[in-house]
Amino acid sequence: MIEVRDLQVRYGDRVVADVPELDVGAGECVAIVGESGSGKSTTLLSLLGLIPDATVSGHVTVCGVDVMTAAPRRLREIRGARVALVMQSPQAALSPATRLGVLMRRALKLHGVGRPAEIMAEALEAVLLDREILRRYPHEVSGGQAQRFAIALAIALGAEVILADEPTSALDVTVQAEVVGVLRRLRRDRGLALLLVSHDLALVSTIADRVLVMRDGVVVESGPAAKVLADPDHPYTRELLEALP
Ligand SMILES: Nc1ncnc2c1ncn2[C@@H]1O[C@H](COP(=O)(O)OP(=O)(O)O)[C@@H](O)[C@H]1O
Ligand SMILES: [Mg+2]
Repeated sequence: MIEVRDLQVRYGDRVVADVPELDVGAGECVAIVGESGSGKSTTLLSLLGLIPDATVSGHVTVCGVDVMTAAPRRLREIRGARVALVMQSPQAALSPATRLGVLMRRALKLHGVGRPAEIMAEALEAVLLDREILRRYPHEVSGGQAQRFAIALAIALGAEVILADEPTSALDVTVQAEVVGVLRRLRRDRGLALLLVSHDLALVSTIADRVLVMRDGVVVESGPAAKVLADPDHPYTRELLEALP
């Protein structure tokens, strides 16, 4: 679902992300880890052509669309429906004066999704939310519920790929597990491809199949999560692991 070769992102002369290879298939989860400023978000956003100020080179294919050469219309199609971007604070992205049910119905209508009531019920069930949440306003739900609602919205619109940027960093530890649990279910039950950016290696170890470790824009190590997180080759990965509580 995602195929990246020789991706390089520059601001002026400065290379902020250099990713030789990154593949995520249906039902797979790949995590990008590294400290703040290492180029994780830049890499993620470049997959949707969402970093207009940067110079980007290389090959990026998402859901069969060549992101580097696709027409703007084609890109908008995958951005809106087939690929979902899940950010750190979903509440900020939800319109404060609109009930969640209204928001979801509008989004489905905009994208021409048929049988909206059924689709909504099914999507909420997939993220383990009660339908009652549709009557609420964004400020009336917890951070974990808002994040799961954002994921439900993505599923209702037909997402095949989820790009998640620190999806649990703004949440309490207790609800972090809810969100991760939901993402894990979606991979398993719906074959969703998941690219997860996180600085939380403990979380990554519970969900990722493969891991890329980035430092200062460079991928210093990559491989199966079980190997990278248990027996890393690179001193920087060891440093990250030792910093875990
Ligand atoms: N619009 C921009 N202009 C110039 N530099 C940027 C811009 N956006 C991000 N950067 C730089 O790119 C680097 C990588 O940032 P980012 O991908 O956000 O890191 P991470 O997500 O790993 O914390 C940082 O050094 C950041 O300062
Ligand atoms: Mg970031």
